[in-house]
Amino acid sequence: MREVTLEDKLYSIEELTVPRIWAVHKMYDRLSTESKFLFLPGFLGSEGIGIRWFLLQICLLLCSIKSVRRLLLLVVPQFVILPLVAMKERKEIAGFTYLRVYPHKLSNERRLTADLGIAIADSHQGKGLGFELTRAVIDWAKEQSLSEITAYCLVDNTRAIQLFRKSGFSETRIIRGRATRGMTKHDVQEMKLAVNNDV
Ligand SMILES: CC(C)(COP(=O)(O)OP(=O)(O)OC[C@H]1O[C@@H](n2cnc3c(N)ncnc32)[C@H](O)[C@@H]1OP(=O)(O)O)[C@@H](O)C(=O)NCCC(=O)NCCS
Repeated sequence: MREVTLEDKLYSIEELTVPRIWAVHKMYDRLSTESKFLFLPGFLGSEGIGIRWFLLQICLLLCSIKSVRRLLLLVVPQFVILPLVAMKERKEIAGFTYLRVYPHKLSNERRLTADLGIAIADSHQGKGLGFELTRAVIDWAKEQSLSEITAYCLVDNTRAIQLFRKSGFSETRIIRGRATRGMTKHDVQEMKLAVNNDV
């Protein structure tokens, strides 16, 4: 756990635990339409409930128990989600980030990479919390010996692009039409960060 004071408010950044999963869903449900449009993980909130949603809840639940997560990381890393929350004054969830782990596609060795997702509650945006949470999840990825993190965001999400740049990521490519919002396909910016060059 790490603590940080931003604009006189104390935030703690912690691994997600089972009792807080529901609060993360509620945080997602309370995001503004714009923030939800920009952050669409597909397993948070009550809007996208379906079979995939339930399967991902099982992953989230198991991965919120440290000992189980460690075991899964060794045996079936492709089912692992590494979730962190930012708590405001230990009471309210102000932000959420996660890494979805998978084996490196181009490597024959046992290299693990991960996709990063992040959302800060609207009333806590623009205070530096996104940066702190990103820093914490990068450090966590290093501890878990991941080799690389990939972040995706809509091409016009300048806030997220700035945040990832500031956190050390570099733009790698634009994927045309990768994100679907309603009936429309949107281009996505891919950004990468090497976290452990020797893994
Ligand atoms: C993107 C997001 C996570 C950023 O979190 P945040 O707490 O608001 O960002 P921070 O305050 O830590 O700012 C980090 C950097 O982002 C950039 N940034 C923040 N607010 C910005 C704004 N309004 N316009 C442009 N850049 C901005 C800046 O570079 C900033 O660093 P600086 O203040 O030193 O210049 C947050 O806005 C969010 O949750 N958005 C909706 C979901 C989303 O877009 N997720 C990303 C895709 S997964």
